[in-house]
Amino acid sequence: MILSALSPFLRNQTVAGLTRDSLLRMDPEIAHGATITALRLGLAPQQEGADPPELRTSIAGLDLANPVGMAAGFDKNGEVPRPLALMGFGMVEIGTVTPRPQSGNPKPRLFRVPGAEGVINRMGFNNEGHEEVFRRLRDVRVPAALGVNIGANKDSDDFTADYAKGVERFAPLADYLTANISSPNTPGLRDLQQEDALKHLLDAVLNARGRATVSVPVFLKIAPDLDQAARDAIAGVVNGTGLDGLIVSNTTISRDPVAGMENAGEKGGLSGKPLFDLATIRLAQMRQRTSLPIIGVGGIHSVETALAKFEAGANAIQLYSALVFGGLDLLDRIKRGLASTIRTAGKHNISELVGTKTADWANR
Ligand SMILES: Cc1cc2nc3c(=O)[nH]c(=O)nc-3n(C[C@H](O)[C@H](O)[C@H](O)COP(=O)(O)O)c2cc1C
Repeated sequence: MILSALSPFLRNQTVAGLTRDSLLRMDPEIAHGATITALRLGLAPQQEGADPPELRTSIAGLDLANPVGMAAGFDKNGEVPRPLALMGFGMVEIGTVTPRPQSGNPKPRLFRVPGAEGVINRMGFNNEGHEEVFRRLRDVRVPAALGVNIGANKDSDDFTADYAKGVERFAPLADYLTANISSPNTPGLRDLQQEDALKHLLDAVLNARGRATVSVPVFLKIAPDLDQAARDAIAGVVNGTGLDGLIVSNTTISRDPVAGMENAGEKGGLSGKPLFDLATIRLAQMRQRTSLPIIGVGGIHSVETALAKFEAGANAIQLYSALVFGGLDLLDRIKRGLASTIRTAGKHNISELVGTKTADWANR
């Protein structure tokens, strides 16, 4: 099993006769666990050489060697941020981490939608909790921006307090924090996106940040399933606070792009290729409502889709699901493709592409 899991990391896909296909034939959660093990064992390739200067960027005060990050949910327990950084991600977001450990939903809870290169998950914030993850991260040097994504325990009687605890616990060691209020798999969590609840949450989170010994940027990660009134309300709240940025978006509960396909009937959040259009439209619509930095996530699976996120208004991007289908060398392809697009356009830096097609995307 573990050997098959290594195949995406190996440049020579025929090593030991193994292919990426063998990984894709495994149960998705077992394949994921084996992939984490492989990374922990140091079996992933490391990036050779520095990133091209065209990709160097800065977001919310963070200097990134490149603007492509690993999205939350891949490394929920902070086991492999260093190998991921050495592979060439400009930022690595671990978590979601909740105050107390929790086991998540019963298995199976992770499904591929092969016909669309989609993923559906209802993991339910399975994670080892603040203390264990903090201990693990304390002595690790991560040569990229380290994000810690924080959330609330399913059985908590005060979701907001759980986020404040996350800030207190991880502010000393994270380069940035993400308050994730957009997982569809913790009942009631997405209600924190409503105006009054969001004000209360941001008050608590930013006050906790203010009490920390170091000042750390805080991002808010939102869902793509938000109507115009909800988008206006979120923008109205965040624009008046000290929040540092948005992450747009989490998975969708919609099934429109995969209707009738294998596993489309599974409950949970849909990600990967079929999320791309919706998440990019939402990103552009939030870009029109705020000048805060935005990290664009959702369905990136090629150089073109990575580029489109910047054009829609993202200052940096993250991805996860496409690595399941495309392998980890997708990161390298995206970075090389972005750098060559910048040069061909006669520009010097990725920041020059940000927001060049926001209106096109927002009005789709
Ligand atoms: C299996 C799985 C688990 C995830 N867990 C989390 C999580 O714990 N916290 C979070 O903020 N996002 C989580 N996500 C969402 C991703 O971070 C990302 O927002 C989403 O998958 C869209 O990006 P993608 O299409 O590139 O995967 C998860 C996604 C997947 C596929």
